[in-house]
Amino acid sequence: MMITGGCGFIGSNFIRYMLKESDFTGKIINVDKLTYAGNPENLSGIEDEFKDRYAFIKADICDSAKIAEIFEAYKVDSVCNFAAESHVDRSIVKPDAFIQTNIMGTFILLESARLQMDHMVRFHHISTDEVYGSLGSEGYFTETTPYRPNSPYSASKASSDHLVRAYHKTYGLPMTISNCSNNYGPYQFPEKLIPLIILNALEGKPLPIYGDGRNVRDWLYVKDHCTAIWTIMKDGKNGETYNIGGDNEMENITIVKMICDVLDEIGKLNNRRSRRDLITFVKDRPGHDRRYAIDFTKLYEELNWRPEASLETGIRDTIQWYMENQVWVDRVKSGEYLSWMEDHYG
Ligand code: NAD
Ligand code: DAU
Repeated sequence: MMITGGCGFIGSNFIRYMLKESDFTGKIINVDKLTYAGNPENLSGIEDEFKDRYAFIKADICDSAKIAEIFEAYKVDSVCNFAAESHVDRSIVKPDAFIQTNIMGTFILLESARLQMDHMVRFHHISTDEVYGSLGSEGYFTETTPYRPNSPYSASKASSDHLVRAYHKTYGLPMTISNCSNNYGPYQFPEKLIPLIILNALEGKPLPIYGDGRNVRDWLYVKDHCTAIWTIMKDGKNGETYNIGGDNEMENITIVKMICDVLDEIGKLNNRRSRRDLITFVKDRPGHDRRYAIDFTKLYEELNWRPEASLETGIRDTIQWYMENQVWVDRVKSGEYLSWMEDHYG
């Protein structure tokens, strides 16, 4: 199986899950460009422990010759495509790489898969609930909700979803797509809300909340996303899309307060003040989607998947992970791992 973007947050959790916990018995080829968000340290120990079942190749999914070569050399029969530019705020400031990787990169993978069609078993594309746009206070996204992406990030993901589906309809490529809500958990790059808040709150720094803080996200523990993806890859119907959600809708301000309270319980700040005092309302994100909420009935009824982690335990485990992995945190925050990657991978 080729996994793209396997050195990122969800991809690295997925590779660890597949090799250590799932019933998958095949080999994984992890293809990652190692952008600022791709960190081989997210998979430390895996290469040694699974010598015969894991290989890493530093490559850009936009490099058609290299991708074709990998498909050929490894006789790739299935793909799980995580590789993407993933941060909405970055897509607002500089959309270029989003268009390139998320759209062109997916297209190049599809083309290689099309040329190997005789032995392709499954092309699974990882997507997001953001393709559906924004909800008011009522309702849920289902698999038939029309696409209405609002940011360059979500528009690029929507575009890639359409391409994947089109390759199925036009060329018969065996594929599935999953559209998932907000993930959190170990190894998430600290530009995203939850790790950013945890790390700032630990250091007593301001906790930036966009707008009025009442935007709603549905939170899913990353391990639950991994089990959902593997369930869909194994048993999902060819050509179908599945929504994945956590059943954990929450306003941003509420989840931030929750993190503050858990951290205060573990240990107060030196000045004995509550971490809630660090909350700072800042300028809103342009085009900020108000509410996401996922209906994953299809995944539950067809494939019997549901999330296991509660938000309470998931957040506590995540806080604990960031507290116990200070070396990883320091290297990611200082950008130290970037020069290490350059030395090792060029
Ligand atoms: P991430 O930013 O942590 O990781 C992305 C990975 O892709 C990195 O390892 C990076 O080096 C790699 N990459 C980027 N451009 C590449 C290229 N051109 N060629 C090869 N590799 C490249 O992202 P994430 O949060 O782990 O998200 C993974 C996927 O899941 C993305 O497709 C994202 O759209 C989707 N998704 C994320 C969430 C979430 O909450 N994080 C929710 C739903 C869907
Ligand atoms: O819904 C799935 C999506 O979730 C994924 O497709 C994206 O890859 C992933 O980044 C995430 O997108 P969001 O924009 O929802 O995540 P982010 O962590 O950036 O922000 C979560 C919410 O918190 C959002 O309403 C914006 C707000 N926010 C974010 C940051 C970074 C703040 O209020 N302050 C912040 O500093």
